[in-house]
Amino acid sequence: MYPCNFVIFGATGNLASNKLIPALYRLEQAKRLPENLTFIAFGRRVWDDKMWREHVMALLHDKILDRGAEDVCARFVARFNYLQGELGEVESYQRLKEDLGKPKAGVCSNVIFYLAIKPTDFSSVIKNLDKSGLSKPRGMHRIVVEKPFGEDIESAQYLNELLHRHFDEQQIFRIDHYLGKETVQNLLVFRFANTLIEPLWNRNFIDHVQITVAETVGIENRADYYDKSGALRDMLQNHLMQLLTVVAMEPPPALEADALRDEKVKVLRSIRPIPRRSVHAHAFRAQYAPGAIEGAAVQGYQQESGVEPNSITETFVAAKFYIDNWRWRGVPFYLRTGKRLADQTSMIALRFRHPPQQLFRETPLETIDPNWIVLSIQPEESMRMEIQVKQPGLDMDTRMMQLNASYRQTHEAPLDAYETLLLDVIEGDRTLFIRFDEVEWAWRVVDPIIKYWAQERDFIHTYRAGSWGPQEANRLFDSEDQEWRNAL
Ligand code: BG6
Repeated sequence: MYPCNFVIFGATGNLASNKLIPALYRLEQAKRLPENLTFIAFGRRVWDDKMWREHVMALLHDKILDRGAEDVCARFVARFNYLQGELGEVESYQRLKEDLGKPKAGVCSNVIFYLAIKPTDFSSVIKNLDKSGLSKPRGMHRIVVEKPFGEDIESAQYLNELLHRHFDEQQIFRIDHYLGKETVQNLLVFRFANTLIEPLWNRNFIDHVQITVAETVGIENRADYYDKSGALRDMLQNHLMQLLTVVAMEPPPALEADALRDEKVKVLRSIRPIPRRSVHAHAFRAQYAPGAIEGAAVQGYQQESGVEPNSITETFVAAKFYIDNWRWRGVPFYLRTGKRLADQTSMIALRFRHPPQQLFRETPLETIDPNWIVLSIQPEESMRMEIQVKQPGLDMDTRMMQLNASYRQTHEAPLDAYETLLLDVIEGDRTLFIRFDEVEWAWRVVDPIIKYWAQERDFIHTYRAGSWGPQEANRLFDSEDQEWRNAL
């Protein structure tokens, strides 16, 4: 039976407003929400149900509401009650417990607790759920924890122990919304449902892999969280590392939660540890300075409200990893992500090796465009292959040709990552959620970088907002013919 109560901690926060509420609304619109499901929005603001519902209406109007969807919206907001409370006060949880105890239309007492809050508040919520008796359920409760899970290995381990004191592993859903993205799942199909691709997907043919998640947005009033976190913890340790595992993993024996996670963990365990003395050659960080995005002037990170004076928090990170296994040894994986970059685009790009012989031109082999496979994750979901064909004419000359395929047929409505994952939480499917050993190994991989940067306290490179980040990030490349691929 599906849970009937869905509690959103941090209901008035950024994540809830930008991702959760719109995604839940779209599920309502598509009639995918169970009939008896009700929501409790837990927030600090002194609001009542009516004020909360007006807030949701306004939010939906701003973001997604189509004309004529008023009845869906009314049905959706009617599912909500608002509970004003403090995350750190056990009395608030006692009131929550009373609310959850009230008889409802359905008979199910299962609850989903969604922690859409700052990582620093996780432990007080878990402890207070326990103190108020909410973690010892009559039914089967679920708890959803957002990334970043901890801020380093030690804090992640502590958090995990705390969670396990009160919840079983089957109840814990560690979310990384990149795994809910259609293209990321499509990568599994692309690799493991085609005999054409997989034989080439290894060190014999691939020169290097690039994973880019570029954003034009800044920190969006999240200085309180972001200034303590930075791009490495906010994006690279989780979203980009998950993308890396899906690119690099071996085929699992079955498409089951643990089989898939076992393979991902093997990849993380095979990543060569970065020696302390060479962090400089493996990782690069920078911060945006004032600039312009799509012609409009934007302020620098230091000027964003709430950022500590002289903060050296990175808003851009690039890093190089090697996976020391039979498939990937010697192939660099270059990862990069940043805010206020020139374009809002995420992609996985694999560059192939040059052919061993050059028959068709007199220029050196290295100057010829190599083959690429580029998987675009957003804004569009597509696959591009770049191959060499003959240039029409008398000479035997070559030129690069792009084969483009968009994944989506025009009539197919895209399912947003959060829609997919929220439905999985409701239905209890953990395949696209993260197991703790994945989190732990991913922290282990970035740990030397964190420790090294923690000592370098007074300097950070800057880049103009609206650019592709500093030139210095190129120092990570192993060879001169490698460069960042900015456009699809
Ligand atoms: C979140 C990060 O996890 O992912 C944000 O905290 C980032 O800083 C966001 O903007 C990006 O997600 P998406 O789906 O918009 O690429």
